[in-house]
Amino acid sequence: MKNWIVLGATSAIAEDVMRLWAERGYRLFLVARNQEKMDIIKDDLKVRGAKQVETYVMDANETLKHITLLDEADKRMGHVDGVFIAHGTLPDQKVCEKSYEATYEEIHTNALSIISLLTEVANRFEERKHGDIAVISSVAGDRGRQSNYVYGSAKALLNSFLQGLRNRLTKSGVHVLTIKPGFVDTPMTVDFDKGALWASTEQVAEGIVNAIDKQRNEVYLPGFWWAIMFIIKHVPEFIFKKLSM
Ligand SMILES: NC(=O)c1ccc[n+]([C@@H]2O[C@H](COP(=O)([O-])OP(=O)(O)OC[C@H]3O[C@@H](n4cnc5c(N)ncnc54)[C@H](OP(=O)(O)O)[C@@H]3O)[C@@H](O)[C@H]2O)c1
Repeated sequence: MKNWIVLGATSAIAEDVMRLWAERGYRLFLVARNQEKMDIIKDDLKVRGAKQVETYVMDANETLKHITLLDEADKRMGHVDGVFIAHGTLPDQKVCEKSYEATYEEIHTNALSIISLLTEVANRFEERKHGDIAVISSVAGDRGRQSNYVYGSAKALLNSFLQGLRNRLTKSGVHVLTIKPGFVDTPMTVDFDKGALWASTEQVAEGIVNAIDKQRNEVYLPGFWWAIMFIIKHVPEFIFKKLSM
């Protein structure tokens, strides 16, 4: 039996991960901004077999509320085995290019809010010598590109933070997973034309659950993104800077 806190619980990817966990009878503590959406998801998860489903309304950017949230999850679930973080936004790159405030806001949502949460989670799990941390980053964090480098740099910040955390927490038996999806068909990408590289939320959710089960450190989803990003990362900068990507 596992007790998980899921932040960004209304995300399409998170919902499919929770469906798989519900089938195993996990206990889930959902955190998101929208109570109505969470109520619908809660009913569905209970029908699928989740032993307990709790909901908690919070904007992830309200960092002063993070400690209260974690205390509340401990209180309602007895103990917490894992924290899965899925919230995120896809910035309008052009707007960010004209505004530091917009850029800061995006970096706050996509990286700093998560760093705030994980600072507290890491200390609790380290003390208990137990816990799983799984965070959705993105292949976009592997190399800055002109079309989305604000999003990419937030995810890159996250990647380095998670790497360091993993290195620190491994001796305490705490597992840290960095999840790097490629293109996934979700509300976040509704305006994009879809093609062969696109994955479904079900595919990605299965990959996430497997990677947690196998205690992987980092996972590209689907797996072929590892090869694509290997090539992209190794294009020499003097060539890369001339590409329109
Ligand atoms: N879709 C892709 O192609 C793709 C690729 C790589 C990585 N990812 C990452 O995958 C994760 C999940 O995204 P998704 O594709 O499943 O899209 P999604 O369904 O649009 O989910 C995004 C979620 O983030 C939540 N959120 C945004 N800002 C928030 C805030 N300040 N506080 C709390 N919740 C907030 C949204 O909540 P509301 O419902 O309240 O808006 C929504 O539930 C994100 O981290 C994203 O960066 C996605």
